[in-house]
Amino acid sequence: MGSKPSHTKLKLVTISIVSFFIAFIYLSISHSPKRHETLIFHTLKDHKQPTQIFPRHVIKPKWYKYLENKTKNSKFKIGLVNVHETPIEVKDLHDKEVDLVNVHFRRVNKSVIWKDLFPEWINENVPQKSSQCPEIPMPELKDYVDLDVVLARVPCENATNVFRLQVNLVVANLLVKNGLDSNDIYREIYVVFIGPCSPMLEIFRCDDQIWHEGNVWIYKPDLRRLKQKILMPVGSCQLATPFAVQGREVWRKYGSSSTSNKSAHKPREAYVTVLHSSESYVCGAISLAQSIILSKSTKDLILLVDNSISQETLHSLKLAGWKIKIIERIRNPHAKRGTYNEWNYSKLRIWQLTEYDKLIFVDADFLFFKNLDHFFVFPQLSAAGNCRHVFNSGIMIIEPSECTFKTLMEKTLSVVSYNGGDQGFLNEVFSWWHRWPAKLNFLKNFQTDESRKYEYPKDAYAMHYLGLKPWMCYKDYDCNWDVLEYRDFPNDLIHAKWWQVYDSMPEELQKFCDLTPEMDTRIRLERQKAKISNFSDAHWKIQVKDPRRLSDSDI
Ligand SMILES: *[C@@H]1O[C@H](CO)[C@@H](O)[C@H](O)[C@H]1NC(C)=O
Ligand SMILES: *[C@@H]1O[C@H](CO)[C@@H](O)[C@H](O)[C@H]1NC(C)=O
Ligand SMILES: *[C@@H]1O[C@H](CO)[C@@H](O)[C@H](O)[C@H]1NC(C)=O
Ligand SMILES: *[C@@H]1O[C@H](CO)[C@@H](O)[C@H](O)[C@H]1NC(C)=O
Ligand SMILES: *[C@@H]1O[C@H](CO)[C@@H](O)[C@H](O)[C@H]1NC(C)=O
Ligand SMILES: *[C@@H]1O[C@H](CO)[C@@H](O)[C@H](O)[C@H]1NC(C)=O
Repeated sequence: MGSKPSHTKLKLVTISIVSFFIAFIYLSISHSPKRHETLIFHTLKDHKQPTQIFPRHVIKPKWYKYLENKTKNSKFKIGLVNVHETPIEVKDLHDKEVDLVNVHFRRVNKSVIWKDLFPEWINENVPQKSSQCPEIPMPELKDYVDLDVVLARVPCENATNVFRLQVNLVVANLLVKNGLDSNDIYREIYVVFIGPCSPMLEIFRCDDQIWHEGNVWIYKPDLRRLKQKILMPVGSCQLATPFAVQGREVWRKYGSSSTSNKSAHKPREAYVTVLHSSESYVCGAISLAQSIILSKSTKDLILLVDNSISQETLHSLKLAGWKIKIIERIRNPHAKRGTYNEWNYSKLRIWQLTEYDKLIFVDADFLFFKNLDHFFVFPQLSAAGNCRHVFNSGIMIIEPSECTFKTLMEKTLSVVSYNGGDQGFLNEVFSWWHRWPAKLNFLKNFQTDESRKYEYPKDAYAMHYLGLKPWMCYKDYDCNWDVLEYRDFPNDLIHAKWWQVYDSMPEELQKFCDLTPEMDTRIRLERQKAKISNFSDAHWKIQVKDPRRLSDSDI
């Protein structure tokens, strides 16, 4: 009997405890937005489910869960870039658990077009000022500090859309501002791109992508490399030089890891060229190597060759200074069978040379006349201008990366090159590029009679022998004079300059520059035609002395 009251007492206690809890839970649910459950994300589906009662079933976006797990943190300060017309889950982020900041910036003037950022020509002889480029407004960066994550929507317009570039640059600036202090000390920061379009690969390296599902990409950027990018001018409207010096070595000094890894390594850098499909440029590759060695370069010389080059030739190419790597050539899937540029995409293989941090690619019809080694401080993709808004792919700096190579290969299927060659393709993919001075890629290209008499320019670093190649002509006769379609290319003095390098080569290498019977016949035929047409430059009258000729008769 004595136990009854104690039973009742126990019941009472239990009831009061339970009701206290119910009251507590009720209170905490109804009053506090700061409740303990992280009721942060609700999808549209949740709102449509009227049967749901407290606590609402929480569905966080997968990317958020990924970041929580990755960072062992569940409270983020997130900067929103171009995400006002929000997907529902982002809108519902507005909760005390997460600090959302809209990043404000003035949209770039609609009248600014790509050609304004990438003009065909700029005056390189005046001090380079940022006012040479149209303004691309950035946010007040000092107003956006301590961000853990930047969430951005990249516009889906084509590759030459200025607003798309602006959004990418705003994100890059926010990341560097929040992730690196003034001593370049790194703080963890992530960027999430949402929407159907991925970020620009010129700015956000695929190597830094850590997660991708559907319309969401997460990057953990290598901030030191990214910093170098934002120090570049917004376009090729300005030379890249002064900026590259500011950003000098920042990422290489500490290795390329995105963490604070101080175990520096000596930057691995090389010049590289490619021979494929025939041996017709072997002489060019040999003389190029000789000229790079004469320039006292300390970099490696890498030559990619396919199986069209014989063992004997490979031996001589090694002797000339090249380290040889055998590749399988790459076909342009849009090229007609048998055309001259069917296999030009073989050049893309240079991105697979990941034992190097950076490579300067050079076409085999180049000669160096000065040391270019200090140009390795520029980031991918720097090159000299060509025409319109494009760069010339004859010489360019790239950063090898297997995932970039894979991306490029995928793009060969969809992107059509404007000239069917690698230059057109690369300009589609790397539409945001950095301008090197024209003297790095002096084009043997002259529109007037006067300019065809130019001497070799004293400040030229490297000459690009356009048109018929010197070794396909006579030593003392630039055969570009005789062919109407090549009339922009002849220049006797610059032609002679090439043969100076030839003369400095050992004889066993010179023999790769011998004339074949076909070449000799072609030169004679064209010369005959020039004579009949009575070309006014009268080069066809020259008494040729080149001992490489296969017979002494003049025409
Ligand atoms: C969380 O991260 C660890 C590695 O850090 C991984 O092994 C695990 O699968 C992740 N869990 C989820 C749910 O993603
Ligand atoms: C945009 O640029 C054009 C041409 O330079 C100028 O006339 C116009 O005022 C600018 N618009 C704004 C909003 O700045
Ligand atoms: C790309 O977009 C710009 C403006 O957004 C337009 O002027 C241009 O014609 C477009 N180019 C192509 C190839 O569609
Ligand atoms: C730092 O970099 C070196 C070489 O690049 C590497 O061997 C080492 O594992 C890295 N250390 C950390 C902590 O990432
Ligand atoms: C393709 O490559 C060949 C030889 O390798 C070269 O002569 C030609 O100029 C290249 N074509 C283009 C469009 O780049
Ligand atoms: C060839 O051209 C020169 C001037 O360039 C002229 O004097 C000469 O008569 C021409 N010869 C013939 C055969 O047309």
